Amino acid sequence: MGALEEIKARVNLVDLIGRYVVLKPAGKNYKARCPFHPDDTPSLMVSPEKGLWHCFGCGAGGDAIGFLMRIERLSFAEALAKLAQELGVEVRGGEGRSRLLQVNQEALRYFQRGLLGPEGEKARAYLLSRGLGERLWERWGLGYAPPAWDGLLRALSRFGVQTLLELGLAVAGERGPYDRFRDRVMFAIRDEGGRVVAFAGRAFEGEPKYLNTPNTPLFTKGTVLYGLDLAKEAIRRRGQAVVVEGYTDVISLHAAGIEEAVASMGTSLTPDQARLLSRYAEEVVIAYDRDAAGEASALRGMLILRQAGLRVRVASLPPGEDPDSFVRQAGGEAMRAVLGQAQPFQKFFLAALASRHDLSRTEGKEAALREAQALWPEITSPALRLELLTGLASLLSLPPEEVQEALRGVRRPVPAPEREPAEPLLTPEDLVVRFLLEGKLPDPVVSELLAEEERFCPAYREVVRRWAEARAAGERPAPADLLTGVSPEAAARTARALLTELRVPDEARVLEEALARFLYLPRLTRRMEEVRAALREAEARADGEAVRRLSLEFQHLCRQRLELLRKR
Ligand code: UTP
Ligand code: MN
Repeated sequence: MGALEEIKARVNLVDLIGRYVVLKPAGKNYKARCPFHPDDTPSLMVSPEKGLWHCFGCGAGGDAIGFLMRIERLSFAEALAKLAQELGVEVRGGEGRSRLLQVNQEALRYFQRGLLGPEGEKARAYLLSRGLGERLWERWGLGYAPPAWDGLLRALSRFGVQTLLELGLAVAGERGPYDRFRDRVMFAIRDEGGRVVAFAGRAFEGEPKYLNTPNTPLFTKGTVLYGLDLAKEAIRRRGQAVVVEGYTDVISLHAAGIEEAVASMGTSLTPDQARLLSRYAEEVVIAYDRDAAGEASALRGMLILRQAGLRVRVASLPPGEDPDSFVRQAGGEAMRAVLGQAQPFQKFFLAALASRHDLSRTEGKEAALREAQALWPEITSPALRLELLTGLASLLSLPPEEVQEALRGVRRPVPAPEREPAEPLLTPEDLVVRFLLEGKLPDPVVSELLAEEERFCPAYREVVRRWAEARAAGERPAPADLLTGVSPEAAARTARALLTELRVPDEARVLEEALARFLYLPRLTRRMEEVRAALREAEARADGEAVRRLSLEFQHLCRQRLELLRKR
C-alpha cells in the first residue's frame, strides 16, 4: 500500500474534524457548527461511512485531507505530510523515491520502443497526422502502449508487480494484475526537474480520451504543471508563463516557438500549481478553450493565480479553437498576437458576464449579479474590488451602491436552531452525478454521459473524469478516493450531492427524471432548434421535399418531448 492509501485508510474523519468543532451524533452521521462560516445551526455534516463532510450552509465539503487543507490553510502536500506524521505513516523519501523514478524512466523506454516498433505503426501515423513530427517524440517523451494486457508487466517484471501497482502502471484486477495503459499514445508527465512522475495515455477513440496515472507516491494530481521542465527557462527569461489546458496544446505551442507554455492538465489550476509558477513567472496568460467551461475554469484559475501574487491576463482564441488547433493553423506569430491582446482579469470577467447574460433584461442582470456574488468573497484586493464594482455598475446600468449591496449578499435566512437544515435541493445534474458515483446508472447511460462530458459543469467534470478513468482501469472507486486532491469546488459539490439525504419514496423515478432533465430534454431541445432552423431555411429555398422531411422530424421530436414530460 502506498503512503497515500495508508493515510487515507487510517485517518479517522470524525476524530480529525472533532478536534476543531464539537460533533453531535445524528443517525449514522455527525453534525456540527461549521467552522468555515458563521453558523447558528449545526449545518456541517460528517459521514464516517462515506468518509466525506459537507456544510449545507456555506457549501464547503470534501474528504479528510480537504478538511485539513482548508482549516489549517495547507497545500495538499503539506496536509498529507501532517497526517502522515500524526499517523506514523512513513512517506517515502530519498532512496525509495529514486528507485521509483527509475522504474518510471524504464516504463517510458518501454513506451518509446512501442512507438518505434512494429506495433507502433498506427500511433506513429496518428502523431504525424496531428503535426507532432518525429523530432518531438524524444524531447516530449512520447510513446505508445501496445494493446497487450501484460506487455509492460513482462518488460518490467524485474522491478516486481508491487512496484508497478504502486506507480499506477499496472492495475490489480480480480484475476491478477494487468497493464493500465493499453493501445494508447503515451505522454510522459515530468516534474519541473524533468523526472518522469506520471503518464497520460490518449485513446485513438473511445472514452476516456486521456487515461492518467492516479495519485502515487511520485505524483499527486494538481501539483505538477505539464511541460514546466522544458518551459521554465523561457518563463524566467520572459517573466511570463502561458497556461493552457492540454498536453497537445503545450507541445504544439513549444514547436511554434512559444516555449513558455505549460498545461494545468484539464482541471482548474490549483494553489499548488500557482505557487510552482510563481517561482518562475511574474505574469501568467491563460489560454483556455473559449467554451463556457473554459471560461469558468479561467476565472477560477485567475483568482488562484492572483492569490499567489501573480499578474494575470486571459487570451481569447477564436471560438471553437484550442491553442493546439489554432497555432498549427495560424502559426506562432498569430498566436503571439493573440497572447499580446490578452485582457486583464477585470475586463475578461466583465466581458464574460456580458456574453453569458442578456443584460438588457432584469433576469439577465440578476443572473449576472448572482454570478459575480459567487466570486466576490474570493476577490480580496480592495483595488480590484473597486474596479470591478464600478465596471459592474456601468455594465448593468445600476448605481454602484446597489451593486455593492447585492454583492455583499443578504445572509441566508437562518432556520430555527437545532432543526434539520432546510432540505437542500439537488439539481438534476447533482442527482445524475450522485447516481453515477453510486453505481446506479446502467452502462449504456454511463457511456452516453461520458460521451457528452461537456454537459457537466467544470467541477463535476473533474470528478466524472476521474471516475471514468478509474473505471476504465478496472477499479471500483469509492467517492472519498475520487475527491482526494480535486479542486475545492469539485469536492464541495460532490460531497453535497452524495451527503444530501434523498427523502423520496421512489428512487428509480427520481433517477429517471434527473436523466430526462439533465440529458434527454436538453438534447431534444437542441435538436429541435437545429431542425427548426433548417426548416426555416428550407422554406426560404422553397425546397418542398426538405420542408416535408423536416416537419415530420420536428413533429416526431415534439412527440418524444411530450412523452418525456408526461412520464414525470
Ligand atoms: P481536451 O479534451 O481539451 O483535450 O482536454 P486536448 O488536450 O485538446 O487533447 P486532444 O488535442 O484532443 O488530443 C484538455 C486536457 O484535459 C485533460 C488532459 O490533460 C487534456 O490534455 N483530460 C481530458 C483528461 O485528463 N482526461 C480526459 O478524458 C480528457
Ligand atoms: Mn486539442
